[in-house]
Amino acid sequence: MCGIIGYIGKKQAKEVVIQGLKRLEYRGYDSAGVAFINGGLNVKKCKGKVSSLESLLHESENGHIGIGHTRWATHGEPNDINSHPHTSSNGKLAVVHNGIIENYNSLKKKLESEGYKFYSETDTEILAKLIESFLDKYPEIALEKSVQMATAQVSGTYGLAVVHEEEADKIVVARKGSPLLIGVGEDEMLIASDASAVAEYTDKVIYLDDGELAVITRDSYQVLNSEEIELSKEIHELAMSLEEIEKGGFPYFMLKEIFEQPKTISDSLRGRLNVGEVSITLGGLENVMEKLVKANRIIIAACGTSWHSGLVGEYLFEWLAKVPVEVEYASEFRYKDPLIREDDVLIVISQSGETADTLAALREAKEKGATVLGIVNVVGSTIARETDAGVYLHSGPEIGVASTKAFTGQVTVLTLIALSLGLQKGTIDKAEAGRIIRALSTIPNKIEEILEQSLKIKEIADLFTYAPNFLYLGRSYNFPVALEGALKLKEISYIHAEGYPAAEMKHGPIALIDEMMPVVVIAATEHTNDKMVSNIEEIKARKGRIIAIATPNNNEVMDLAEFSITIPETEDVLSPLLSVIPLQLLSYYIAVNRGCNVDQPRNLAKSVTVE
Ligand code: F6R
Repeated sequence: MCGIIGYIGKKQAKEVVIQGLKRLEYRGYDSAGVAFINGGLNVKKCKGKVSSLESLLHESENGHIGIGHTRWATHGEPNDINSHPHTSSNGKLAVVHNGIIENYNSLKKKLESEGYKFYSETDTEILAKLIESFLDKYPEIALEKSVQMATAQVSGTYGLAVVHEEEADKIVVARKGSPLLIGVGEDEMLIASDASAVAEYTDKVIYLDDGELAVITRDSYQVLNSEEIELSKEIHELAMSLEEIEKGGFPYFMLKEIFEQPKTISDSLRGRLNVGEVSITLGGLENVMEKLVKANRIIIAACGTSWHSGLVGEYLFEWLAKVPVEVEYASEFRYKDPLIREDDVLIVISQSGETADTLAALREAKEKGATVLGIVNVVGSTIARETDAGVYLHSGPEIGVASTKAFTGQVTVLTLIALSLGLQKGTIDKAEAGRIIRALSTIPNKIEEILEQSLKIKEIADLFTYAPNFLYLGRSYNFPVALEGALKLKEISYIHAEGYPAAEMKHGPIALIDEMMPVVVIAATEHTNDKMVSNIEEIKARKGRIIAIATPNNNEVMDLAEFSITIPETEDVLSPLLSVIPLQLLSYYIAVNRGCNVDQPRNLAKSVTVE
């Protein structure tokens, strides 16, 4: 949420900051702003997209140092005044901020009583005035000292960047709870809330940790902890190509990411799946495998789509490894004072690795003594760094706000962990494991086959573009897929949709079914097919419009359905990896037909770094 970029160095800051903001726009897009120092401080900001901001910029808004921000509003509606950067009363200092300052009201009152005036409804403006107040009181101190004094007074979360026209050789940044990294270049430095904004300028990054503050000049960086002791930080190498963060000829990132799935799943499997030997290699879990084998219970905590993949994980672990699993919304887990025993293992799942609620769940469980594992996509993210061990998805950057390839990457990794655990515990025999492993290796090709039907899926989407409601039903492994299909549709097309376990329909949602109601039924697991057929009959009897996702030989389902999308046969446990693909495409085409910006749906943002 909210994107932050900063540049100091040999180039004109404007080109780097604007380009960085475009790369970060998926993190928030209700307003944007920049501050450059060129003699004096120059600030430009406005409601709307980065392209609106760009049209406001003149030659003079430039220089070799600048910061920028794309906003996802927390305090105060999206408008020009509430946009970042926020400035000091004397107009010499500018701040961009991601996070929430929780005690802003009391600080504001205090500063107002000292004569500082506030213009916006944001919590961020408090930071600009608070830093200024220290510089006013102690004119001899450097900008970094005033930032350190200000952050010591605020509670809440922040990733922030500050520039001052009288100290125009530096950007000061600080982090608590919101991600920030430094990009180290040749005679230039960048700061950003995520790596995609710096990847085209450098492949060397330093991740800041909570409580750290850094002073960046064009040829140096100094990172201090909260006691002002200088730290020696590891420089990481970024493995992110420009191609990965561009649309590559697709109209939207979401469509590109849907079509990337055969490759991203192959990347998730590479070096991990040993078909001949019937074994799984997960280097990241080696040190904790014993703990996992002995676990009496696995708790999975995640949000949104990642929570849905966690629900698939529950079926996988219970079926393959015979271990009880509880799947929790990370936001609920944290505040219920969870009961955690020593032999519990918590798995957190997060594409971004920065989701505030998931991070809080991880910290809570760690504090209570649990072993915490991560299933994360973004390498070097906070969750990846704070977990005891984990497995990366290797899905590449996901930029479309609606998660697609991360979901299938997460389910792939969960399948690998469950299989590995089942083999080690002996809860699955080698022959069965061999069958599943062989089937898993063919999933990428099977997804290709589904993608080839995209035109047919678009035709169905054309017919239902203006439906006001949708119902999605699935059983067993495909119940979470029903939830995921409904979430995809509502978030990008703004159509109300519900996902339900098919049998639960009789306990309420059946009242909604009439000849206007599209019902997507996922009939993709053999062991529940008969029951699913009965549910489809019940819908048909009430004239619901059935769109079935079924395997090609499932004539019973296809004869009942008004429309069918076929997915290749696979093992039941792997069916979510296939059944979700048509649902992603269906929601994509409906949203495009409705004229929605599918990559940047209203009110949403990628990477939810506030609670
Ligand atoms: C939905 C979506 C969100 C995320 C959720 C968790 O398409 O993308 O529901 O899944 O915000 O994000 P991560 O996985 O980054 O923790």
